[in-house]
Amino acid sequence: MEALLTDNGDSEQRARRADACAVVIFGGAGDLTKRKLVPALLNLAQGQLLSPSFAAVAVSREPLTTDEYRRRMAEDIRKHATGAVHPDAWRWFEERLSYVAGDFKDPQTYLRLKAALEKGDREHGTRGNYLFYLATPPSFFTEIARELGAAGLVQETEDRWRRIIIEKPFGRDLESARALNRDLTSVVDESQVFRIDHYLGKETVQNLLVFRFANGIFEPVWNRRYVDHVEITVAECLGVEQRGSYYEEAGALRDMVPNHLFQLLALTAMEPPISFEADAVRDEKVKVLHATRPLAPEDILTHTVRGQYGEGTIGNEAVPAYRAEPLVSPSSTTETFVALKLFVDNWRWADVPFYLRTGKRLPKRCSEIAVQFKRAPLILFRNTPVERLQPNLLVVHIQPDEGISLSFEAKVPGPVVRTGSVKMHFDYSDYFGATPSTGYETLLYDCMINDATLFQRGDMVEAGWCVVTSMLDVWKALPPRNFPNYPAGAWGPKEANELMRKDGRAWRQIE
Ligand code: BG6
Repeated sequence: MEALLTDNGDSEQRARRADACAVVIFGGAGDLTKRKLVPALLNLAQGQLLSPSFAAVAVSREPLTTDEYRRRMAEDIRKHATGAVHPDAWRWFEERLSYVAGDFKDPQTYLRLKAALEKGDREHGTRGNYLFYLATPPSFFTEIARELGAAGLVQETEDRWRRIIIEKPFGRDLESARALNRDLTSVVDESQVFRIDHYLGKETVQNLLVFRFANGIFEPVWNRRYVDHVEITVAECLGVEQRGSYYEEAGALRDMVPNHLFQLLALTAMEPPISFEADAVRDEKVKVLHATRPLAPEDILTHTVRGQYGEGTIGNEAVPAYRAEPLVSPSSTTETFVALKLFVDNWRWADVPFYLRTGKRLPKRCSEIAVQFKRAPLILFRNTPVERLQPNLLVVHIQPDEGISLSFEAKVPGPVVRTGSVKMHFDYSDYFGATPSTGYETLLYDCMINDATLFQRGDMVEAGWCVVTSMLDVWKALPPRNFPNYPAGAWGPKEANELMRKDGRAWRQIE
């Protein structure tokens, strides 16, 4: 991660080029590859961040030749590139791109892959360094790792590395995540496994570490003494699109909470690490998850809210109910919204509630972390109309706008003392311009340079599942009877407001 930071002066620290290597994408004919991975690799190539000794191999079941695959990618990149595609850069990339057709369960596939990789070593100088990206459904993760092991493709030696990137979802509960960790580490060492969470590829999410630990003025107030509560919102206005069959099995809790929302929680609540080494940062993050109080079954009904959208309107567009989406059961009890009240039981955060919410078909796409500070202890303005002061609020805007804002009280001009809330706002694009990116560039690059800071370690994934598994169990035992309980275009069911209202609080109004 450090390689992509800029220094404080005008000069940009030039990141070094990644190691010579071949990137192998399992699921090479899939959606993620064309929408994110190939555009990200191209951005890295255009930014001079890939090694000149680079190759890419896509593996998939579709019976295509390398030429057909290259033609298809050349079409797709026109739709999915995040900026201008320089013809020379594309030609360079395309010449290094090959395709292996085959079933992921068939050992023959791996022999063909091995031959393609050895060819890449000879023709492009990739030196036996291989990065395997498992962009496949999770049911293939173990199988692919095992077959790679059997084909001798994951053994490292002193002069060559082998790494595996695993996409989410990593398990569907604590037990399956443990089993997957066990299966993977029976084939490769933990240091070779890079579990991806694409939220950690977002600039503003990475900036949280810099914001908190490169500045002296925020840390002293970043604790239970000054913070009243924290709200983490990841709102989407899209529905489930074509992913009904996956989503029916997952639901909002599994899909978003133990991964993306818990990453945001961990970065917000963690202690300063002793360095920015991967394990130093990850040690502090995992402590937050271990300190997150698992809810007792009787608390689950009062501390969690689930919802499912009915038909409604977003913008001016009428949209169907979840139960009417493709590949969704007409009587589905899958939740598309979740709100939680959690506590991080340590000295810094004891008794400070962390309210988390995420959902589909909410009024707008918006991810943010809002830290609300305690009110000033006393209203000093006697004999004035000031009866109530607004608390200070610090909001980290993650998407779509990226920035940080701080609200505080100011005097409204005039002879009478009146106060009003005003805002200081830092907008990323004002300072640094817009950097077109898919969010996967940093993650791919970091894996190539062996920086695991932004990847989940096995124990972190398990700690996340540990917190949500009891919720999943109680919810399963008590299926919801009131679904759908919010119309598309609303901020979730009314119980979500109730969750905060009974604590004398309210969700921040997001305009
Ligand atoms: C994915 C989930 O991990 O994250 C999706 O599976 C969700 O359901 C997506 O839409 C949200 O990502 P982003 O980057 O659009 O906020």
